[in-house]
Amino acid sequence: MRTQYKRTSVYNGADQSEPKFMFVWLCEQLDTLGISPSNILDVGSAAGDFLKYAKKRYPAAHCDGVEYDIDLVNLAKQRHLDISFHQGDANNMALFPGNSFDAVFLTGVHSIFDDFRPAFSECIRVAKDNGAVFVTGLFNPYPLDARIHWRYADNLESAWHPGYNLFSKQSVSTFLNGLGGVKHFFFKAFTLPFDLLPQDDPVRSWTEQDDSGERTLRNGIMPLNLELLVIQVEKRGG
Ligand SMILES: C[S@@+](CC[C@H](N)C(=O)[O-])C[C@H]1O[C@@H](n2cnc3c(N)ncnc32)[C@H](O)[C@@H]1O
Repeated sequence: MRTQYKRTSVYNGADQSEPKFMFVWLCEQLDTLGISPSNILDVGSAAGDFLKYAKKRYPAAHCDGVEYDIDLVNLAKQRHLDISFHQGDANNMALFPGNSFDAVFLTGVHSIFDDFRPAFSECIRVAKDNGAVFVTGLFNPYPLDARIHWRYADNLESAWHPGYNLFSKQSVSTFLNGLGGVKHFFFKAFTLPFDLLPQDDPVRSWTEQDDSGERTLRNGIMPLNLELLVIQVEKRGG
């Protein structure tokens, strides 16, 4: 048996006053592209933590979040009255017309899906001409795609969970090269500048040092070499 991805309890904790390091870093990447966003979309927005920071950083920007888990959508709506949250599916965002957002973020989401292409296509479709899509997560540097399902080992009958599918940079590049509307794309490694301790739940990530003293991130399933894929959108006709 397989379950839908639902990790509400990981994202419904207390509203954090400080943004995650990754959220600040993502906005720095947006600034580096020279985009001053007048609107931002976060896909898989959980309880709205990223958009809370983005709204503070770009107060004039209109911010929208799309999230599949209705409990998180409701929590985000209660917490952040100046941001619009919608229940929806990253793979079909018909609620937004094309060419709508200067910046679209998909953070820690694409490895949930058995196929990355529908969500990537949708993010590119709703991004504005000359806007950008920022996808952060796992990308395999080797030419292999893998579908991974996991379960807690205390019950052999428990359901299998998704969340760690690994798509190769080669597959992603082949797809983007064949898709209209993409001006340019590149991958950039993400590294944490501090240590994370293991938690009781072995699915939650922690840092270790490799043989050369470099800090690496992993969880109880696999190494988590996070990268950012930046997709710049070209001027499209129509
Ligand atoms: C690993 S969490 C990342 C949350 C947030 N982006 C962050 O970086 O903190 C993945 C999120 O994607 C949501 N999600 C799962 N499937 C989705 C779908 N089909 N469409 C939109 N969101 C989805 C999950 O409910 C969860 O909130």
